[in-house]
Order: sequence, then structure tokens, then C-alpha cells
Amino acid sequence: MVKRVHIACLVLFGAVTVAGLASTSAALSGRDKPTAIATLGATLLSSGPIQQGHASLACQACHDPAPGTLRQQMQVLARGTPVDVGFSPVNSAICADCHDRPADRHPIHRFNEPRFRKALDTVQANTCLGCHSEHENRRLHRADTGFRAACHADLTLKRDPLDVPHVTLVKQDNWQSCLTCHDFHGNHAHSPQTRMQAAFPLEAVNAYFADGPSPYGLKPLTAKDAR
Ligand code: HEC
Ligand code: HEC
Ligand code: HEC
Ligand code: HEC
Repeated sequence: MVKRVHIACLVLFGAVTVAGLASTSAALSGRDKPTAIATLGATLLSSGPIQQGHASLACQACHDPAPGTLRQQMQVLARGTPVDVGFSPVNSAICADCHDRPADRHPIHRFNEPRFRKALDTVQANTCLGCHSEHENRRLHRADTGFRAACHADLTLKRDPLDVPHVTLVKQDNWQSCLTCHDFHGNHAHSPQTRMQAAFPLEAVNAYFADGPSPYGLKPLTAKDAR
């Protein structure tokens, strides 16, 4: 992933911060209202509404202060060296701190194997943020179907239980069907359906990605709250 310098959203120091905060929050309300976190003299303004499951989390649960004081960070920046100012970028390790998923069928570390190198051009499956997002009021930004083709184009099952076999689905380029029967991580107590007729409607799956209820039922695993 491209390492970015996190300065764009920083509002620095006194008067500017206060004035900026006051004028922005006046126009917004409720979950959309920007909350500020302040550390080392830098303030981070929320860039958008947070998904339901994360509504009760503190900003710092995901946003770690960058190393050094703000003054030191600015000095490094002034020398033209890329540096994280104020806060470090959110990374997969932070997500994994709370989302321990021992039974994950698609653990991100698997995708660092050389045979998946080409697939990573299509989807950054080796990082949580390759598919998930935050501040967009969605669980997933990667809800298109293309990424399944990146790994499963040669899919064959020895004893296929489906009424329309997997090879046929692949031949039909029916990549949008996959998540109407399978949950990606396999962390729900759901067994995939064996008839196309019984598959979840695509709209129900898309609604879940956009922060709606889960068609796959309740999760067997819950995130650890404290950090
Ligand atoms: C569940 C984790 C999580 C929580 C909680 C969270 N954020 Fe974020 N935030 C992210 C992710 C992921 C990104 C996008 C990746 C990145 O820029 O590091 C992001 C990006 C941002 C950005 C844009 C930064 C940039 O450089 O693009 C701001 C500003 C921000 N968050 C502020 C907040 C504030 C304020 C809160 C508390 C109200 C908060 N966040 C809570 C995960 C979180
Ligand atoms: C401080 C703990 C914490 C951190 C850090 C965290 N989460 Fe969560 N996350 C939760 C909690 C709590 C829920 C609510 C559902 C649950 O208990 O599993 C949740 C829910 C979710 C959900 C929706 C699941 C559902 O059924 O509602 C997704 C997707 C998710 N998190 C992804 C992420 C990603 C990606 C990151 C890293 C950017 C991240 N989380 C960081 C605690 C955390
Ligand atoms: C290649 C895309 C992809 C990547 C990478 C990915 N996810 Fe997911 N994730 C999904 C999809 C699709 C769903 C919805 C289907 C489901 O619930 O399994 C989902 C659902 C979830 C859920 C809610 C359901 C559950 O199992 O609790 C959580 C939480 C979650 N992901 C966390 C993570 C974390 C943490 C990472 C990084 C360690 C990650 N995901 C990496 C695609 C991805
Ligand atoms: C109508 C429901 C349905 C649809 C649609 C579907 N599957 Fe399946 N899939 C199943 C069932 C049932 C099995 C066999 C039971 C199992 O292994 O969990 C299976 C098995 C698999 C397996 C083997 C799992 C293993 O552990 O060996 C893979 C991989 C797979 N499907 C991928 C896909 C992909 C990729 C798509 C989209 C092209 C897809 N499936 C579409 C129901 C479905």
C-alpha cells in the first residue's frame, strides 16, 4: 500500500482549530457531526459518519498518535522527508487487535504468498482496508464482484453439490452470485445453500455491505471492545 503523509486533515493550533470546528459543526448534526480528537497539539476532524458497529469506539481506538512531538514532526517535514504528522495511518494490525478471527477462511496473510501476487493488482486482499472502509457509513467499499474472479477463475469442485455447478457459474462470469451463498470470512454460523433458488437476494447482501442487517445470521465471533 502507498504510504501517505497524513497532514491533509490536520487542523493545527489555537484560533484556526476553534474557528474551523465551530463553523463545520454548525452545519451538521448527530452521527454526521465531526468529533475532534486532539493530541500533541494537533486535531483530527472526523472525515465522515462511522459504521454502526464502531459507533461507540473512541477515535483513538483506530488512530494512534504518530511518533514524536508535533514540533519534531514538523521539523522532519520541513527537511522534505515524508513523515506522519499528528496521527499514524490506520493499518490491519489495529483492526486485528479487536477482530481476532481464528477461523477466517480468507486470512490476509495468505495473500502474501507469491502465487497471489497478480491477484493483488485487482484487490489488496492482504490488508483489511483493501475491502473495508470507515467514515463512509459502510462496512465494505469493495463490494464489486471483480475481485472474486482474481482468485477463483479456475474453480472446480470434485463433488459439486450445487444445482448449477460452480464451473457453470464461472463460465457465466456470475461472480456476483458467490456472496449470496458464502460469507467471505466464514465467521457466521451459516452453511452455503445448495440451490440457486435458495441463495440470498443480491440486494440483501449489498444492503449488509452498506451497514444493514446480516443475511448470514448472527456472528459466532464478536470483536473485543477494549483497547
Ligand atoms: C474503526 C476504526 C476507526 C475509528 C473508530 C475512527 N476512524 Fe478515522 N479512519 C479510519 C480509517 C480506516 C481511515 C482511512 C485510512 C486512513 O486514512 O488512515 C480513517 C480516516 C480518518 C481521517 C482521514 C485521515 C486521512 O489522512 O485521510 C480522519 C480525519 C479521521 N479518520 C478522523 C476520525 C475521528 C475524529 C474519529 C472519532 C470520531 C475516528 N476517525 C474514528 C478508521 C477509524
Ligand atoms: C477497538 C476495537 C475495534 C477496532 C480497533 C476495530 N473494530 Fe471493527 N468492530 C468492533 C466492534 C465492537 C464491532 C461491533 C460488532 C462486533 O462486536 O463484532 C465492530 C464491527 C465491525 C464490522 C461490522 C461487523 C458487524 O457485523 O457489525 C466490520 C466490517 C469491522 N468492524 C471491520 C473493522 C476494520 C476493517 C477495522 C480496522 C480499520 C476495525 N474493524 C477496527 C471493534 C473494533
Ligand atoms: C478481499 C476482501 C476482504 C478483506 C481483505 C477483508 N475483508 Fe472483512 N469482509 C469482507 C466481506 C465480503 C465481508 C462480508 C461477508 C462476511 O460477513 O463474511 C466481510 C465481513 C467482515 C466482518 C463482519 C463479519 C464477521 O465475520 O464478523 C468483519 C468484522 C470483518 N470483515 C473484518 C475484517 C478484518 C479485521 C480484515 C483484515 C484482517 C478484513 N475483514 C479483511 C471482505 C474482506
Ligand atoms: C447457491 C449457492 C452457492 C453459490 C452461488 C456459490 N457457491 Fe460455492 N459452494 C456452495 C456449496 C453448498 C459448497 C459446498 C459446501 C462447502 O464446501 O461449504 C460450495 C463450495 C465452494 C468452495 C469450496 C469450499 C471448500 O472449503 O472446499 C469454493 C472455493 C466456492 N464454493 C467458491 C464459490 C465461488 C467463487 C462462487 C461464485 C462464482 C460460489 N462459490 C458460488 C454454494 C454456493
